Amino acid sequence: MKPLTSSALPLPISPLALGTWALAGDKFWGAQAETDSIATIHAALDAGVTLIDTAPAYGDGLSEQVVGKALRDRRDRALIATKISEADMTPEKTAASCEASLRRLQTDCIDLLQIHWLGTGERLEEVIAAMEKLRDAGKVRALGVCNFGPQSLGRLRASGHGWITNQLAYNLIWRAIEFEIVGACQRDGLGILCYSPLHQGLLTGRFRTANDVPAGRTRTRHFRADRPMSRHGGAGCEELTFATIDRIRTVAARLGQPMADVALAWLLHRPGVSSVIFGARTPQQVHANVAAGRLQLDAATMAELGQCTDELKTVLGPSADLWAGESRIR
Ligand SMILES: NC(=O)c1ccc[n+]([C@@H]2O[C@H](COP(=O)([O-])OP(=O)(O)OC[C@H]3O[C@@H](n4cnc5c(N)ncnc54)[C@H](OP(=O)(O)O)[C@@H]3O)[C@@H](O)[C@H]2O)c1
Repeated sequence: MKPLTSSALPLPISPLALGTWALAGDKFWGAQAETDSIATIHAALDAGVTLIDTAPAYGDGLSEQVVGKALRDRRDRALIATKISEADMTPEKTAASCEASLRRLQTDCIDLLQIHWLGTGERLEEVIAAMEKLRDAGKVRALGVCNFGPQSLGRLRASGHGWITNQLAYNLIWRAIEFEIVGACQRDGLGILCYSPLHQGLLTGRFRTANDVPAGRTRTRHFRADRPMSRHGGAGCEELTFATIDRIRTVAARLGQPMADVALAWLLHRPGVSSVIFGARTPQQVHANVAAGRLQLDAATMAELGQCTDELKTVLGPSADLWAGESRIR
């Protein structure tokens, strides 16, 4: 896969990127030592990762702060991607949010500023214009969105100029974007940045049943709605999810590879994917995930992995929102 380049960015976006949500140590992920977080970010840079993804929403600014600390003496080796929260989707709040991110990140320019969640989208066109103003002012190098479906992409196409990426949940047990969104991004020339590529750890194979999964990670539509912090209100499909993971486990065992490596490599072989943003909390996880980028999967294996996960894809359907019953991704 060719790394995504843009004349606006000083470095190419590496095919594997580091996500830093879990480094916030919030209620979803549990405690995280800052020393481990900094060592993790440094390990990623040393392994050739260029893009570090964060957001004001991760630990209410804590993730951005730790990214800022870690990059203080190596800013030129990293591209920082951060976001505008749903609560800040007005032109006035957008500018203030960007300034606050710049302070927490200890930098004078954000490499990629993304809309995190559209919310009602009432003022999307004004927010697009406000973000382009930040780019014109040199506070931001490039612009992107997250969680945009075909309808919102149409609005972006109509009023935005030179936006480069759409960040979306995508992994072997969450293939909703394949129905419509991958094609829409390709038509609009937007690179797809995949998030939750290991489905928050499920695709490492270390959880055998739904009851083994920590509470903060049982909120997705795969799980029953009576799991803690869930808000999708649906029945879930826990049995099929873990049966699907078992099928992937069998393929990975035959290849003699860890399941996580197979899951990451599968994404890197999918059309439209520009970068895979994995979460990691230790240098060891970074090293393992970057090594997975070297794994080649042949066409037969790709087809087999597709077949293993087709039934789950059909059951979960085209709604690309991992967490909500009524999709916020339009
Ligand atoms: N734009 C959006 O709306 C959005 C939404 C979600 C995420 N994101 C971004 O995407 C990033 C990645 O997604 P994610 O953190 O949700 O999920 P993920 O990357 O699928 O999973 C991360 C978790 O998987 C486990 N893991 C990672 N590498 C491992 C390895 N080699 N061996 C064993 N376990 C491993 C770790 O679990 P343990 O913690 O148990 O060690 C880690 O915290 C986030 O950090 C964030 O930057 C964006």
